[in-house]
Amino acid sequence: MFGVGTSSYQIEGAWNEGGKGLHIWDCYALRHPEKITDGSNACVTVDFYHKMKEDVQLLKKMGVNYFRFSISWSRILPGGKVSMGKSLEGINFYNKLIDELKANDIEPFVTLFHWDLPNALEEEYMGFLSPKIVDDFVNYAEICFWEFGDRVKNWVTLNEPYRFTYSGYVKGQFAPGRGGEGQEGDPESEPYIVAHNLINCHAAAYRKYEQAFQDAQKGKVGITLDVNFFKPFSNDQKDAKAVEYAYDFMFGLFMEPLTKGDWPSNVKKFATKPSIHHPNGRRLPTFNDDQKKKLLHSYDFLGINYYTANFVQFVDSSGYSSGFETDSHYKASGKDSKGNVIGPAAFPGSWVYLCANELADLLLYIQEKYNVDKSFVITENGAPEANEDGSYYDSGNDPKNKKKKVIKTYEQVKDDEFRLKYIKWHLDAIKQANAKWSRAHGLQRYKFIKKLVMGYFVWSFTDSYEWNSGYTQRFGLNYVDYNNNLLRYPKNSALWFKKFLSEKEEAV
Ligand code: NOJ
Repeated sequence: MFGVGTSSYQIEGAWNEGGKGLHIWDCYALRHPEKITDGSNACVTVDFYHKMKEDVQLLKKMGVNYFRFSISWSRILPGGKVSMGKSLEGINFYNKLIDELKANDIEPFVTLFHWDLPNALEEEYMGFLSPKIVDDFVNYAEICFWEFGDRVKNWVTLNEPYRFTYSGYVKGQFAPGRGGEGQEGDPESEPYIVAHNLINCHAAAYRKYEQAFQDAQKGKVGITLDVNFFKPFSNDQKDAKAVEYAYDFMFGLFMEPLTKGDWPSNVKKFATKPSIHHPNGRRLPTFNDDQKKKLLHSYDFLGINYYTANFVQFVDSSGYSSGFETDSHYKASGKDSKGNVIGPAAFPGSWVYLCANELADLLLYIQEKYNVDKSFVITENGAPEANEDGSYYDSGNDPKNKKKKVIKTYEQVKDDEFRLKYIKWHLDAIKQANAKWSRAHGLQRYKFIKKLVMGYFVWSFTDSYEWNSGYTQRFGLNYVDYNNNLLRYPKNSALWFKKFLSEKEEAV
């Protein structure tokens, strides 16, 4: 599978058309422009909703055989729940998209939840903070399987549950905006509750498909997790331990429930210790037997979003702490103790360091450590261009960091040599990982895995709305002119990818 990726809120626009209900990102960006770097929202963004047919032609021109997109829950169920009614117009939009893709020999690769939760569910029971979310998610998933599953054979239940949890409930930088300084929420307990409910949603949807749809539809259901490759900051044993923590909190938090039916032991140790606001230490929900049973091996492939690697340093934290990066027992950054940088920054000043071989090491490490018995799909890999002044910024919630909207011209970004190299090197690394894995394990130990990595998606198809960075980071293979009718133009990386795809028989 070779494709490009997108998500509903980032590309669709048409925020109040087709019977769509509001979701938490609509509300967050509209109510809190001060939290978005350029004060923008994605009410219109690149208007994929209206440009769908032209965009499918652009995909065809690029020669991809897969397209990754997400369904917006609130287009299907405007009130979040079945009892509030389905929107036939919403369903119809995705039917048309899927049909259009298939008519052009492009397979849909569909994410059910890419962070745009119906706002009604946030209001009613605080969304993922309540276990009630599980039934509503399964009902929504069931409608999607029923309506689209005759043509969609690859499903991702959740996209990056870690990022959703960390940025939304620890840092308060993503919707629903809890946990940051001066904001509502409790970063000591909420991220664990949210993680618990998220992974139970995944497992319940997986089992629903298995019971009711697998026989007839014969598709695959997976999950997409985000993970960096971590190296110790120094030779100090404590930093080696910190690397372990980093994997456990960023990745194991969702991976171990799937492979062991429980949390990683470091998470357990940390989140059951007394903390400032939880003197009895009880802030980690437990999995009951039914949940464990549902969770174990509930994936047909493992989606990985890989962007970069980090050095990880031990941080002694005795005070108020979520357990997650920065305000806790480890810190991830681009430099080690001697000042060595982990890899060249993808574009000047970017948070994405080009660490392609580390992707190969990471996949082999994960496969072994978690005993992954299915193939991987790289569901995202890519890099964003810098702003006008060459800087990147994590605006956080600090209004002082706010910069004015910078529109880059096509001429300024089209020679994206670095993105091209970034993609090429990662593809090479995957090829090597596949070869190394086959040599090492061949058909013996993991005979059910045909190939270590069975798919690769560049993030992203076009420039689009980059969450709390607004339009200031351009991840697209194709440029979007925000000043002129949202016209799309290929950057050099798009042309290179097209060429790669036309020669891929020899290339992979
Ligand atoms: C993670 C997310 O899944 C996607 O929505 C985002 O745009 C990219 N990575 C880049 O940050």
